[in-house]
Amino acid sequence: MNQQQLPLFHALQQFQSKQPISFHVPGHKNGDVFLDEAKVIFDSILNIDMTELTGLDDLHAPEGIIALAEQLAMDFFQTKQTFFLVGGSTAGNIAMILAACREGDTVIVQRNCHKSVMNGLELSGARPVFIAPVYDECLKRFTNPSIDVLEQAIKRYPNAKAIILTYPDYFGNTYDLQAMIELAHSFYIPVLVDEAHGVHFSLGDPFPPSALRLGADVVVQSAHKMAPAMTMSSFLHCNSERVLPKRIAHYLQMLQSSSPSYPLMASLDIARAFLANFTEEMIDKVLESVQKVKTVISESRYWRILPSDDPLKITIQMEEGVAAKQVAYLFEQQQIFPELVTEKQILFVHGLAPFLSLHRLKKAVQTIVEQLKNYARHDTIETKYFFPVSIQELALSYQTMNRQPAKYLSLKDAVGYIAAEAVIPYPPGIALILKGEKITAAHIEMIHKLRKMGVRMQQRSPNLIQVFTGTEEGEETK
Ligand SMILES: Cc1ncc(COP(=O)(O)O)c(C=O)c1O
Repeated sequence: MNQQQLPLFHALQQFQSKQPISFHVPGHKNGDVFLDEAKVIFDSILNIDMTELTGLDDLHAPEGIIALAEQLAMDFFQTKQTFFLVGGSTAGNIAMILAACREGDTVIVQRNCHKSVMNGLELSGARPVFIAPVYDECLKRFTNPSIDVLEQAIKRYPNAKAIILTYPDYFGNTYDLQAMIELAHSFYIPVLVDEAHGVHFSLGDPFPPSALRLGADVVVQSAHKMAPAMTMSSFLHCNSERVLPKRIAHYLQMLQSSSPSYPLMASLDIARAFLANFTEEMIDKVLESVQKVKTVISESRYWRILPSDDPLKITIQMEEGVAAKQVAYLFEQQQIFPELVTEKQILFVHGLAPFLSLHRLKKAVQTIVEQLKNYARHDTIETKYFFPVSIQELALSYQTMNRQPAKYLSLKDAVGYIAAEAVIPYPPGIALILKGEKITAAHIEMIHKLRKMGVRMQQRSPNLIQVFTGTEEGEETK
């Protein structure tokens, strides 16, 4: 197929060029009804913010321009079916889980997965078996589960209906996913991959191989994270018939808006064309720029750059006693905003084009290095006990949790109870305590430490945690 085509984008452009009169939703009437002061910024987008008008197709039953845009994506990504998502990988992860497993089914899940995976599991009523990631001494963080643990889990739960993995991780780290997929397939278990951070892997070398190429059955990618697409625009790809695309379509139309955004869908069309027409020369220029950025960033004795499989991910590891949060704050003071800050690391994400503000970055790094000379040293925290159990089930099934009463307890009183809500430091959105997991003293200690470091927790009340208080018969779950 001609990958220069932009069926969705060009149709919208053509539609608005005829100055159509709107007697339909949305209420901004092609931008005519809007706050004056905001018009300047929004105008060009409002002009293509259409609805399902004649000729503009329907995301939930595509047969025109949206179908063609999805076919072009299938052709580029080499998939059996690709769905455009306007609810982010969040919607894609939930839909693939609902499509792959039914209530009570066992599913093997990487423990450090995104919260959307947990939400999908809860909605499906499946019985998750979590496999813990390993701690990488070189990268100083948890990465992926080992194939040995996966094999143990499969042997213990051979009737598992799916395996859910994250590849790559937030920092661009990959692993031998192909071996895991082959292992799973030898037990006839489909592999669902959250590849939210890897849409650009389809460009091939020097990027790691995509989960699609490695044989995953369903792959979800946030086009908006690493490709030039608007926030919330994502792809869901089906690579086999092990999970039926029609079941995925069914859940997507339940989960996503019945008025999906045309600017978002058009940006998916654009992102696909951008990737499909990316030349080796462009890749070389990006790599050259990454090298320059790394050279500038590394001009400090307060941190060092860690290795990454994805060249676009630049992670710095703080030296002992230097708080990443504080360094990130200093970068932000210079109007330089990194993607992610953990207790010891800061992640900078390079784009798919040469970086244009090298001089500003250089000056900022010099200023920050000077400022750090006057900063107090901090204790850094130990995160190694985050995932102490290699294969773990929840203490209660989702069905039982649904029927149980819950109450709020102070953090210190909650030890020994079963959590009725997840505690999720954000970013990266990976649960420290899962809903349905027994709360330990180590969990509470970690919450206090993370808080002290200014990490945001997604929890309704900062000093309280919701716990299950008893079974239906009134027994304590403690
Ligand atoms: C690993 C992973 N999966 C899924 C998501 C959700 O993606 P989206 O923002 O596209 O909904 C994120 C978001 O940060 C993520 O890091």
